[in-house]
Amino acid sequence: PSPSPAPSPYTLDPTGAGQHAANERLRAQGAVVPIVLPGEVAAVAVTRYEELKEFLAHPDVAKNARHFTALREGAVPEGWPLTTLATVESMTTADGDDHRRLRGLVTQVFTPRRIEGLRPRVEELTAELLDALGEAALGGETGGAGVVDLREHFALPLPMAVISELLGVDPDLQGRLHELSHAIVSTTTTPEHVLAVNHDMAGVLGTVVARRRAAPGDDLTSALLAAQAEDGDRLTDGELVGTLLLMVVAGHETTLNLITNAVRALCTDREQLALVRAGKADWGDVVEETLRYDSPVSFFPFRYPVRDLAVGDTVIPRGAPVLASYTSAGRDERAYGPDASRFDVTRRPAVRHLSFGHGPHYCLGAALARLEATTALAALFDRYPDLTLAVPDHELPRHPSFVGNSTETLPVRLHR
Ligand code: HEM
Repeated sequence: PSPSPAPSPYTLDPTGAGQHAANERLRAQGAVVPIVLPGEVAAVAVTRYEELKEFLAHPDVAKNARHFTALREGAVPEGWPLTTLATVESMTTADGDDHRRLRGLVTQVFTPRRIEGLRPRVEELTAELLDALGEAALGGETGGAGVVDLREHFALPLPMAVISELLGVDPDLQGRLHELSHAIVSTTTTPEHVLAVNHDMAGVLGTVVARRRAAPGDDLTSALLAAQAEDGDRLTDGELVGTLLLMVVAGHETTLNLITNAVRALCTDREQLALVRAGKADWGDVVEETLRYDSPVSFFPFRYPVRDLAVGDTVIPRGAPVLASYTSAGRDERAYGPDASRFDVTRRPAVRHLSFGHGPHYCLGAALARLEATTALAALFDRYPDLTLAVPDHELPRHPSFVGNSTETLPVRLHR
């Protein structure tokens, strides 16, 4: 294939508005499309399922930002909203041996047994939050009696509490960590704010490290500190803080969106909820279908071909920043048929969604995310079977981001 004639590149909307409609146009345009990011940075998005799957596992594709030509050449503005995710010193920006080393340190603590062992704790936290939800609704804090923001009071605190306990983050730091994480995945942040957020994030994570150094526990931070003490070459200080940053952000912003998006979809199409009630689908099916239909992670930054690389019928130039368009791939008609844009909990797709990624960087927290989301949804609709959206889905404010894919709030009524 020869380099394609460049159609005028699409500027990604930093507010995340109308993402599915924009994705449909991008997919029609091609499997690989040029786009423009905030700050006039040229990039490429892989929009279709097959090509994305191939690209994610391609051996000539790197994640370390040293391969990002425009960044290396100083053409990326300071305080660029995507800088943190693109350069955080951790497994998500590491390749080869570095990636194995950094991921290995975390997987040691994050074993399937340990995750499964968390089930009773996840159930307990869920039950506590559901009790508190009833009380918050009585207060009628959002738009009248009986209305409560399910995102703030349920979808957020569950994954935040779980990841915090795993990492050894004390409760008093969790609120601030969420605010900072949320800013990191937002794409409308001003340069000044980006710099302030990074500064504050380093400060809070520094506090976490100092506390666990003084009082180690059975948590990831303490385990990473112990690995460092044993052999200083295994983890630098920068990598320690970068790993914690990645784990905090990836460990809750995503599951937060998954739970939110599942509730939005089920309450918008109650027939789907009825199918679950009738036993035609289980909560695992709801979670997988939500991941496909409304992927919590939309455009994930970045991968860089280490040579000019043909993907589909397009050549992506070496060093170009490439976004994985997970939200788009989930609705690709080529993979999921003509009704790909329909939420259908009884769908048994021939191909598995890519919403946890694919290849060496496949989501490390997939089992935990599934445990949390299935537990949360089952318990929520068991306790509040008549739960409805207090505001129609299409009127809800969006999280201003093209990296995350969800709404900013989720006002619901718990009872009819
Ligand atoms: C990587 C999605 C929950 C930790 C990823 C990737 C995706 C993803 C798409 C690959 C990114 C890429 O390189 O293109 C999700 C979704 C979640 C979720 C949709 C919830 C619904 C979690 C949780 C944790 C976690 C709960 C932590 C406990 C990670 C880490 C990576 C990752 C550490 C980087 C892996 C690597 O680079 O080797 N996730 N994630 N994720 N996820 Fe998740």
